[in-house]
Formats: sequence, structure tokens, C-alpha cells
Amino acid sequence: MKNSHNEIGIVGTGFYVPEKIMTNYDLEKIVDTTDEWIRTRTGIEERRIANVEEATSDLATKAGLKALQNTNIPPEEIDLLIIATHFPDYHFPSTSCITQNKLGLTNAVCFDLSAACSGSIYSLFVAESMLKNSNYNTAMIIGSEIFSRTVDWEDRDTCVLFGDGAGAIIIKKDQIGKKIISFNFGSDGSGADLLKIPAGGSKLPTSIKTLEQKQHFIKMEGKKVYKFAKKMMVDSVIQALDEVDLTRKDIDLLIPHQANIRILKAVAKKLHLPIEKIMINLEKYGNTSAASIPIALDEAISQGKINKGDIVVLTAFGAGLTWGAIVIRW
Ligand code: COA
Repeated sequence: MKNSHNEIGIVGTGFYVPEKIMTNYDLEKIVDTTDEWIRTRTGIEERRIANVEEATSDLATKAGLKALQNTNIPPEEIDLLIIATHFPDYHFPSTSCITQNKLGLTNAVCFDLSAACSGSIYSLFVAESMLKNSNYNTAMIIGSEIFSRTVDWEDRDTCVLFGDGAGAIIIKKDQIGKKIISFNFGSDGSGADLLKIPAGGSKLPTSIKTLEQKQHFIKMEGKKVYKFAKKMMVDSVIQALDEVDLTRKDIDLLIPHQANIRILKAVAKKLHLPIEKIMINLEKYGNTSAASIPIALDEAISQGKINKGDIVVLTAFGAGLTWGAIVIRW
């Protein structure tokens, strides 16, 4: 679907990661793994871990505050807040309502969005569409995750991959540049079992048995997810570009979901992109799910990797299964 003529643009970003760093060497002390295995199989060197007092809304609030400060937008100007997370503060109320209160976004309509690691790009697109079709002027989207509480620290297959963090993006009407010019999204629930937290919801409510069986932690079929990620990110990027008569050669910077360096290298190869055109920061943070793209976008901007007029492509995949790509002309 073509989506190239609107005046809604990105006006600012911000991110927050907890202070505590857990290195691969720290992990060596708690599970049967090595720094060498983690670095060569994933590219990750360290990740951040929230402190016990921090909830998902606290990380979101700190990221949101940075975005507000970076844009000089007063909190009451935000009309809409969407938070993407796999692990909200509560089943309800939404983490976005809690964060609204902490940030003083007194005029914002708030809701959470569940699309796992694709959550921030889904949210960005939903927010942009809502702005287009309403009298709302300004929206904030935040991806915020505390993975350290949903991984099994005895399961080396998963615990080495993830990290905690939050990233925020503010979009506004009547902007020049930094606009979404195209998108492509997809979902396939037949792959729901490949990546999930089995218990704690209506299907398998919390019980002594679910706790004993560790059903509240992430379960993943890593190899199948790996294959899906490579294929869907590439297809999605190509289709989104094609909608606006662009090709992979037009990409100035690809900002992919930061899951595994091998996935990113494979995507770069398929798209014939030099690795310098791919934003990579997973070595510092691991996979922060919905937070990963807003964090990477903020770092790309502050590192001067994006110039006016550039074609910037965001792409993600995650549980659901979900995937997508957004093309931005900066
Ligand atoms: N440390 C040491 N060895 C480990 C390990 C760890 N942390 N985790 C797994 N291994 C072992 C396995 O047990 C296996 O041993 P075996 O050969 O004796 O059976 C060996 O390493 C190879 O495991 P395998 O699963 O084949 O590794 P892989 O190359 O497929 O990499 C992942 C595993 C998880 C890194 C990779 O599949 C991946 O990144 N998948 C995508 C996951 C993802 O992105 N999820 C989030 C989606 S948003």
C-alpha cells in the first residue's frame, strides 16, 4: 500500500538502559556457556539488567523523558502514548497509563501494543496512522522491556541473548522530512509456538505446577526463529521499498532489530548492503526486543550516521510471529 504523502515526521528520540552491566564472563559463572560461544554465535558481549526496584514503566519513563528533553516538547503536548512491551508492569492497567502519569502526559490517550520484538515499528506505524486520521498532533511511542525477569537464568539457550532497556520516538504533524514514506507488515500465528511464554495468561494461569515447570519463562526454538528472521526481514524491506519505487541500492542506513550479528550479516548479504550501512549495537545491549530499534535509532542519530534526505529503513521480527519494515526519508 502506498503511503508517501503525509506531513508527520520524527522530531526526537531518547533511550535509557539500566546501569548494571552483565558481561558474557558474568554469565560464564551462572550457566554452562563461554564468552567465546556467545560472541561468535550472537555478537553479544554484554547486556543491561534492571535493578529490583525498576519496572517496565520506570525504564519507559526515563526513555520518554530523554525524548521530551531532546525535543523541548512540553509533556502536555503529547496527544498519544503507545508502549510496546512483552512484559508490562501489570496485566492491567496498561504500562502506558502508568508511564503517562509518571511523565505528566496529562492530555495523552494511552494504550499498550503487543507485537513482541516488532512492537516498536508496529507502534510507530499505528501512531502515525492515528495522527493522520485525527486532530492529534503529537505522539510518543516507547519500546520498553525487562527481559531479565522472563528468561530462565538456568537455560543457556535463551538467557545469553536478551537484555533490558527502553527507547522512545516522538512524531509530530507539520514536519519537513523524517517521514514514513512506506511500510510493510506481516503476522503468522501458525508460528506462535516458536517463541513464547507459556504460562501466566488465560491459557495457563499461574499455579504451583506452572511455577515448578518454569512455564513463566521464555521458550524458543532458536534455529527456526533464526531462519524466519532472515527471510522475513529481507522480504519485508524489499517490499516496503518497492511500494515507493526504491530498491535496496537506495538504502543509506538499515536499522534492524538487534537479535544476532549472524542474522544481521545474512540480511546485509541478501540485500547486497555493506555492513557499514547496517546499524549495529547489539554487542552492548543484547536483544532488547521492542526497545531495540528506538535505542539503535537514537544512537544512529547521535553518532551522526543519518543525514538529511537519507533513506533509513527500520525492520524487525518477533514472536507472534510478527515482522515488518518502515521506510523513512530523513
Ligand atoms: N553456550 C554454549 N553452548 C550453547 C549455548 C550457550 N549459551 N546455547 C546453546 N549451546 C549449544 C547447544 O546446546 C548446541 O550444542 P550441541 O551441538 O552439543 O547440541 C550448540 O551450542 C549449537 O546450538 P545451536 O542451537 O545449533 O546454535 P545456533 O548456531 O543455532 O545458535 C541461537 C543458537 C539461539 C544463537 C540462534 O539459533 C539464534 O540466534 N536464533 C534466533 C533467536 C532469536 O533471535 N530470538 C529472538 C527473536 S526476537
